[in-house]
Amino acid sequence: MRIAVVGATGLVGRKILEVLGRRAGQKLKLFLFASPEEKGTPIEFRGHTYKTEVLSVARIKKIRVDFALFSAGAEVSRVWAPIFAESGATVIDNSTAFRNDPEIPLVVPEINFDAIKPTDKIIANPNCSTIIAVLALSEVRRLFGLKRVLYSSYQAVSGMGTAALDDFWNGVNRAVKFRANGIKERGAPKVFKYEIFNNLIPQIDSFTANGNTKEEEKMINETRKILNDANLKVTATCVRVPIENGHSVSINAECEREIDIGRLREALAKTKGVVLLDSPEDFLFPMPIFANGRDEVFVGRLRLDNSAPNALNFFVCGDNILKGAALNAVQIMERLATYK
Ligand SMILES: NC(=O)c1ccc[n+]([C@@H]2O[C@H](COP(=O)([O-])OP(=O)(O)OC[C@H]3O[C@@H](n4cnc5c(N)ncnc54)[C@H](OP(=O)(O)O)[C@@H]3O)[C@@H](O)[C@H]2O)c1
Repeated sequence: MRIAVVGATGLVGRKILEVLGRRAGQKLKLFLFASPEEKGTPIEFRGHTYKTEVLSVARIKKIRVDFALFSAGAEVSRVWAPIFAESGATVIDNSTAFRNDPEIPLVVPEINFDAIKPTDKIIANPNCSTIIAVLALSEVRRLFGLKRVLYSSYQAVSGMGTAALDDFWNGVNRAVKFRANGIKERGAPKVFKYEIFNNLIPQIDSFTANGNTKEEEKMINETRKILNDANLKVTATCVRVPIENGHSVSINAECEREIDIGRLREALAKTKGVVLLDSPEDFLFPMPIFANGRDEVFVGRLRLDNSAPNALNFFVCGDNILKGAALNAVQIMERLATYK
């Protein structure tokens, strides 16, 4: 199989390579693309050193890949994904470029793989916190029906890419130096507007006219699209927290029918891609330290919410770079490859 990874030097791109390395078959021919500034960056894969290339129409036509996995931001996707698609490739795109396009499927394979038609050449990978939230939420809907969903997210710094992690670690280093020598160094964050270390920021992405941030709008719209329910009531508050990796979402759901927590537990224990971690008596519940580096999304703190009819609360954690991005994209590709 011939695969292009666009954005191969980034957090998601490198994770895609790691996932391919452990899941894909041996017959793999890779083409790695990054920005023109970083042309020729060496990247190791299965003992072979690849060098990153610069995107060009001629090169895309020449390499004729089966799949192109994009993680280089929406602007790059808008320009180059259609060119890959025209060359015969199926594009799986991690950016926001195509997610709201009604003609383009937005897919979490465990939930709505059947949204992909054989003619689709571009498939959108959903927002990271949405993927992590909907895996368990779709089981709640299957069992009890859904009326309204309230998300409160706690999103890791890695969700903003490589440069954001520098802001986080620079803050950590300044704090360590201050404890050691009492000298307070000033440092200007480069990605965030405020210091992220020892802080939390209730703004992810820019604000929209209605007061929501774009990240909140993504969680609302993408949940509706993945669950194929345009009228589902969804609201969200998204918060950046000083965690290196691993997104968490507190979810309050109002259902159509009476909720049986025992039945839900049984169902979640069998749900593909989910680990039920819900033993409060043993202090076991989902946390980023458990979810970090794991393929599955952790679900726990399941309990009825008696403040509203047929309502419940639960808490989910997942690795935003893995299931929230790279793994989900590779899983889509794997399932498409079986009937390509
Ligand atoms: N981080 C997450 O949790 C997450 C989750 C879901 C989706 N996403 C999405 O995935 C995408 C990448 O995120 P990230 O966190 O991996 O960001 P990142 O670490 O900043 O990486 C960005 C990548 O894009 C490449 N790039 C930039 N301009 C390019 C160009 N003109 N041509 C080709 N490649 C170019 C960069 O190459 P250079 O190294 O050469 O600059 C780098 O490989 C974004 O659209 C993001 O919204 C991220």
